[in-house]
Amino acid sequence: MHFFRDCIVICNIMSEEIERKKRVFSAVQPSGGLTLGNYLGALKNWVKMQDEFECIYALADLHTITVRQEPAKMRANIMEAYALFLACGVDPEKSPFFIQSHVHTHAELAWLLNCYTQFGELGRMTQFKDKSAKHADNINAGLFTYPSLMAADILLYQADMVPVGADQKQHLELTRDIAQRFNGIYGNVFKIPEAYIPKAGARVMSLQEPTSKMSKSDTNVNGCIYVLDSPDVIIKKFKRAVTDSDACVRYADGKDGINNLMSIYSSVTGKSFDEIEREFDGKGYGDFKLAVGEAVVEELRPIQENFKKLSADKAYLQQCYANGAELALRISKRTLDKAMKKIGFVLK
Ligand code: TRP
Repeated sequence: MHFFRDCIVICNIMSEEIERKKRVFSAVQPSGGLTLGNYLGALKNWVKMQDEFECIYALADLHTITVRQEPAKMRANIMEAYALFLACGVDPEKSPFFIQSHVHTHAELAWLLNCYTQFGELGRMTQFKDKSAKHADNINAGLFTYPSLMAADILLYQADMVPVGADQKQHLELTRDIAQRFNGIYGNVFKIPEAYIPKAGARVMSLQEPTSKMSKSDTNVNGCIYVLDSPDVIIKKFKRAVTDSDACVRYADGKDGINNLMSIYSSVTGKSFDEIEREFDGKGYGDFKLAVGEAVVEELRPIQENFKKLSADKAYLQQCYANGAELALRISKRTLDKAMKKIGFVLK
């Protein structure tokens, strides 16, 4: 009697299985000192995406040596970033989270892709032009071919989507071009990845110069909040944030400082701009700045506590990144082998 109903149930279960979750790949450079901008703009989305998509995340340590690093500091940065990402909610049970240099397929595919990437294409990358202007004494070949390593990171995992900020969009476009070129020669080897621009995700500006992005290279230390700043320091920096002479908490053109504080407050509390304007109606900037500072302190408190616990447990961290690397190798090796076979290498 229930035959048709049962059939429908079975069909639904089957189609759910067939409809694989979309795969997301992303990576960041562990360059030390995660900022509130990195956290609200990128990392918080990484954490959220874990529920909706199949995510694979990495620390792109190979990318960091395009600029000279101090060895002890580099090691400390990698370990700190790994623990901090877990503390923020990257869950290694849900999403493989690994260190790029632990998975040899990345450097190998990057070499192959270098041979399918044109000198002219790499020369047009704005990041290359900016960085070579900034480090004129060390314009090394790695800085130049950085985008083919990034392409390898992405293409190895057959990622459907890559969450990227504006500064990495051009690299993702190049990744797509390289993949299409390769597929054009050898058939379907690489999935062509799409850029994923998260719906929400604050673009956090400097507290001192609210027309430029919050950045650790900010010349004024008060412009940049670090996720590991102490509550006192965070409050102090917010109290000193640049505002305007309008003395009214509202979102409007030309009120860059207040707009920035409002979007930080909104991103942390989930309140809309209208709600924020109502909450601070008739109140001064002093009250508002303190409220934003306190909200940020509360948002970061559990992260800082988790970070403290995790950094004390080296064995656990090691187990997580070893597992992540093992999984990542298993997935990426399939793509690397396929690409090598198509090119004409003899596989062992
Ligand atoms: N180049 C990126 C950055 O500096 C980091 C990165 C390396 C990356 N490999 C990636 C980002 C793959 C997305 C996908 O921010």
